[in-house]
Amino acid sequence: MVLAAGIIAFLVLPHVAQAQGDAAKGKSKAQGCAACHNADRLNLAGKDSAGLVTAMIEIKRGKMKHPPVFGSLNDLEINDIAAYLSSLKR
Ligand code: HEC
Repeated sequence: MVLAAGIIAFLVLPHVAQAQGDAAKGKSKAQGCAACHNADRLNLAGKDSAGLVTAMIEIKRGKMKHPPVFGSLNDLEINDIAAYLSSLKR
């Protein structure tokens, strides 16, 4: 199972990282993130979108510690959220 997840992420990640996420779609999906990630705490605004995608996929795979909010996000949504967050000014 872990191996399968790794293979899927390996196949999906380069593809996702290259595609241009839709920041407008990402904005609505990122509303729930602001409770913990806002300007003062754990700020994600203006971060590199490829880095955000990588971090979120790591979180989804359970490789990075995070409160359980990622279960329902698919790779496309992750890409959109990353596009939105990286478009924000710090
Ligand atoms: C319940 C609070 C909470 C919510 C809601 C939340 N996060 Fe987080 N997030 C955290 C905490 C705490 C960390 C730091 C985890 C650690 O370092 O151990 C974190 C870390 C991250 C990181 C890694 C940052 C880095 O540079 O290392 C990313 C990316 C991230 N969150 C994205 C999101 C996104 C996208 C959402 C919305 C879908 C979200 N988070 C919702 C609490 C939250």
